[in-house]
Amino acid sequence: MKRAARSDSVALLDRDMAGKNLSGYWRLGMEGLPPQPMTAVVPCLWKWADVHESLVRAGEVISLEDSERRVVRLVNPGLNQQRAFATHTIQISFQYVKPGENARAHRHTPAALRFVIEGNGAYTTVNGQQCVMEPGDLILTPKLTWHDHSNDSKQPMLWLDGLDFPLVTALHQVMQERYSERRQPIEKSSEEVMDQLGASKRHGVPLVDFFHYKWRDTQKTLRALAQPRAARDRFDGYLLEYRNPLTGGPTMTTIQCALQLLPPGDETESHRHASTVIYHVFRGRGATQIGDRLFEWEQGDSFVVPLWYDHRHLNRSSSDDAILFSMSDAPVLKALDLYREEF
Ligand SMILES: [Fe+2]
Ligand SMILES: [Fe+2]
Repeated sequence: MKRAARSDSVALLDRDMAGKNLSGYWRLGMEGLPPQPMTAVVPCLWKWADVHESLVRAGEVISLEDSERRVVRLVNPGLNQQRAFATHTIQISFQYVKPGENARAHRHTPAALRFVIEGNGAYTTVNGQQCVMEPGDLILTPKLTWHDHSNDSKQPMLWLDGLDFPLVTALHQVMQERYSERRQPIEKSSEEVMDQLGASKRHGVPLVDFFHYKWRDTQKTLRALAQPRAARDRFDGYLLEYRNPLTGGPTMTTIQCALQLLPPGDETESHRHASTVIYHVFRGRGATQIGDRLFEWEQGDSFVVPLWYDHRHLNRSSSDDAILFSMSDAPVLKALDLYREEF
């Protein structure tokens, strides 16, 4: 009887406080904070066949006159389905531009990057720099840079989009602005910019932006890295991070991109970290153990390793390398002094 009266009085207190925009800590139902970081993001794998089929069908029913972009987003089943995000910090989606099409020029606060999957010769223009797109190229459109995509080639163009959209949404900073014209004028090419990026630089030429990593350069570096066995990371295989060549810092303020090469039959050791990583299989086939589940993957598949889940990678082939492209929110966690790693 005495107990019921007490619970009634807590309920009454809660109700009265709610009317005054107040809430008791006891309503959280926690005795304290959890011993480890917790996330609603769940490990998940998306098959390329499903993504590709959806893109092709979208190509038939969605026009770039009706929709700003023809994009298929990967949605994490652990998160709010309405928002359609793959993780709580980084979004991954795939974009399809048919021959003759143009995705109009705009800019926005979410930073974006493109990793080219298929096609040749279309281009993204970023703040006047024409970046001709070839498979394996990585193109950046940092916050508030003008960008539009044009496919003047005869082939369809497919690429992966990575954006810090969920993070910018959580910070209530999302905005977008359209350019006055459908396409922005082209002022220079990626080649011209790269020519200025040697060890010696022309005096008086400011180079504040870097937008384009060419696959022909990345591939060469990745092959060279995989030569000496000592360079192998026990958790990530042969790991190549895309650094900003002008600052030495991460790919973008909020996203670190990397390539991992796993030699035939390679198995990495298990570790976990505070960062969440989205992977895309660029080449090969293998598996990744995330927590107690094993996800089998092949070229074109994408998967998410949520924060603080133990994970390790396996190359299933006895003859071919596997190459994984990845996007991690580690730069944000490091900036906030929240990054931790355990094995
Ligand atoms: Fe955009
Ligand atoms: Fe990892």
